[in-house]
Amino acid sequence: MKHYTSIHDIDNINSWIEEAKQLKENPLKHIELGKNKTLGLLFFNSSLRTRLSTQKAALNLGMSPIVMNVSGDAWGLEFEDGTVMNGSTAEHIREAAAVVSQYCDIIAVRAFPTLTDKQKDESEQVLSAFKKYASVPIVNMESATGHPLQGLTDALTIAEQAQTQKPKVVLSWAPHIKALPHAVANSFTQAMQKMDVEFVIANPEGYDLNLEITGDTKIYHNQEEAFKDADFVYVKNWSSYEDYGKVKSTDPNWMITKEKLGDAKFMHCLPVRRNVIVEDAVLDSDSSLVIEQANNRTYAAQLVLKKILENSPS
Ligand code: CP
Repeated sequence: MKHYTSIHDIDNINSWIEEAKQLKENPLKHIELGKNKTLGLLFFNSSLRTRLSTQKAALNLGMSPIVMNVSGDAWGLEFEDGTVMNGSTAEHIREAAAVVSQYCDIIAVRAFPTLTDKQKDESEQVLSAFKKYASVPIVNMESATGHPLQGLTDALTIAEQAQTQKPKVVLSWAPHIKALPHAVANSFTQAMQKMDVEFVIANPEGYDLNLEITGDTKIYHNQEEAFKDADFVYVKNWSSYEDYGKVKSTDPNWMITKEKLGDAKFMHCLPVRRNVIVEDAVLDSDSSLVIEQANNRTYAAQLVLKKILENSPS
């Protein structure tokens, strides 16, 4: 594997999950693999989990991580070709990506969508430019349309926690005051489509995800109906895809309560707004898997870095 930028880079999700479980059992087993190798983590946006767990994953493999907050600390980057750079941007991605490649053996990038320009977001301008102009492998730490480290983490968590051969998994929209990206929901959907689970999505009218991603997955506009017999309820807000980036509803009736959840396990990628997305009683109960998910971020990232290192010339 050269890059990890999408759930589609996973060739066999079941074997990846098994390998991630082995890494979790013995995280330092491959401590020599990344010796004298450097992981660069470039953040265009905020992060707690991705920032720390990806560094931890690199350290477990013997790599040296270096981190930069690109938006705050680097020169303003230009992504358009042929621009007369006499405005706010001081460095072109062509040079920047090539330069970072001199210092790093793998580059991991976080760059959120604009949520105003659908075409630009779907082109994955930042991630694509790094893939194009860097000379080393690229890892997606959440881009405009996907969060494949989170998707792999969530697949691992469900595989570990499942009590039945083919659990029912529901991805449910929940209200939020701000316009949020589709990335987590997209990657979770793609991961579940690769697993042997009964997977459905629940969201209000006007909130269907990109139908090219949801494909044959059943979409309910009635949350109660979707939750029937659920084993896992994965909750996330996203802004409208159809009316791109708009908050069309903050209906509190879609918030997750203990009563709605029933016997199902609750999942969320975090950070989560308490009593907006989900009530305290759920997060503070044994039904919540959010800390297990956060823990698994390390092993998902470690597996991805391991596969890239194994495929890279020494
Ligand atoms: N779930 C997740 O990606 O968390 P952070 O935004 O804190 O990295």
